[in-house]
Amino acid sequence: MITLAFTLNGAPATVEIDPADRLLDVLRERLGLTGTKEGCGEGECGACTVWLDGLPVNSCLVPAYQVRGARVHTVESLDPAALEPLLVHGATQCGACTPGVAMTACWIVGHPEILASHSLRELLAGNLCRCTGYDGIVAGVQAALDAGARA
Ligand code: FES
Ligand code: FES
Repeated sequence: MITLAFTLNGAPATVEIDPADRLLDVLRERLGLTGTKEGCGEGECGACTVWLDGLPVNSCLVPAYQVRGARVHTVESLDPAALEPLLVHGATQCGACTPGVAMTACWIVGHPEILASHSLRELLAGNLCRCTGYDGIVAGVQAALDAGARA
């Protein structure tokens, strides 16, 4: 076992990990933050999305030891009010993808300048959803962007 120290949702965190642990496992099983979900486990679905030093990543692909000294944010850190546009527009059904979608959506809303070079659907392409058909997700993120632009 090795000791991992990093910043988790804005607070210092220290946890004993196995060198082979994935960040996803450490968050869910060692730290009890089960909001982050495992879908495919191989970097394709985005259900496990967290922010690492401010950028969305698939936590199932990140060796936990690599976040030593880094900043990690999980879905538990999001303001519930920020998720309201997703709910209002029907962006969730079974909910399996929703934490990952929320992490990507809130990152886009916080970085609207990225839309100068990428479409919303491109930016959301790393988060697969088997239920919604994506229209509700896109509409929800667009509504959040519109609200942010008006603020
Ligand atoms: S569980 Fe990580 S990308 Fe699917
Ligand atoms: S709401 Fe079911 S996978 Fe997206």
